[in-house]
Amino acid sequence: MTSYKNILSDNQEGICTITVNRPEKLNALNHETIQEIGRAVAAAVKDKGIDGIIITGAGQKAFVAGADISEFSSYTVEEGKKLSSDGHKVFNSIERCPKPVIAAVNGFALGGGCELAMSCHLRVASDNAKFGQPEVKLGVIPGYAGTQRLVQLIGKGKAMELLMTADMIGAEEAHRLGLVNHVTTPDQLMNKVMEIMAKIRAQSPRAIEGIVNCVDAYFNKEKDGFAFEIEEFGNCFGTGDFTEGVSAFLEKRKANFVRS
Ligand code: COA
Repeated sequence: MTSYKNILSDNQEGICTITVNRPEKLNALNHETIQEIGRAVAAAVKDKGIDGIIITGAGQKAFVAGADISEFSSYTVEEGKKLSSDGHKVFNSIERCPKPVIAAVNGFALGGGCELAMSCHLRVASDNAKFGQPEVKLGVIPGYAGTQRLVQLIGKGKAMELLMTADMIGAEEAHRLGLVNHVTTPDQLMNKVMEIMAKIRAQSPRAIEGIVNCVDAYFNKEKDGFAFEIEEFGNCFGTGDFTEGVSAFLEKRKANFVRS
């Protein structure tokens, strides 16, 4: 079992829960923490016994309160670029993860925390969660694709406002804007995440992977998402999941997808 310094990675009943574990710093993301998240996600993808990933923060107060400001306070231009580029690689690996990744947002999701949540496929927030991109207060811009994913999720006008004003919004407002999928009480947060995960797990894993690839292609300027879907759709017909899914429907029974 891999051990980490800044995160916890816990596999239970086929789900890997990655908890950013620096509660005394409101789970701020230093470089090492982001690398550990990347390693934990890669390990969960490789592990045949894992069907999905949950990302959350330790404690009651924060999901992640941003990049670790004290770490980058004396960075040079080159160091800043490397920090951002390394973060992009990890956050992209979350977005393109072939298994479902759900953010359980249990408090402040600011800066890199909002960006981490946005890199996940879905977001469920507790009603005490707060979202924002306050980087402009510090004289920087979001560096883990916040300028891109926030626009994708809530549209240009509102994204511009949040990015330029550094405003913090509550969970209900985030829900209204489409930044989060569901809002719950803090004690129901994990139940709601598990309920969604259970629905996804009942579907064809190969088809779920195809969905991730096609949706990613929509946002990838180097790909033609429509052509990509035709390809992925066709490929489904050669999978055991398709044989099982269609047979189950015709035989009026529940599909039992074999994970490989
Ligand atoms: N980087 C490094 N340390 C951070 C941090 C961050 N992004 N966010 C919080 N912390 C640390 C604080 O420095 C403090 O540490 P200390 O006890 O050693 O002084 C500890 O976490 C608790 O934070 P504190 O500010 O005392 O809590 P609060 O409840 O008064 O305020 C926030 C909470 C989230 C509003 C406030 O911590 C904040 O504004 N954080 C920065 C958010 C941000 O700008 N993120 C984007 C970074 S690019």
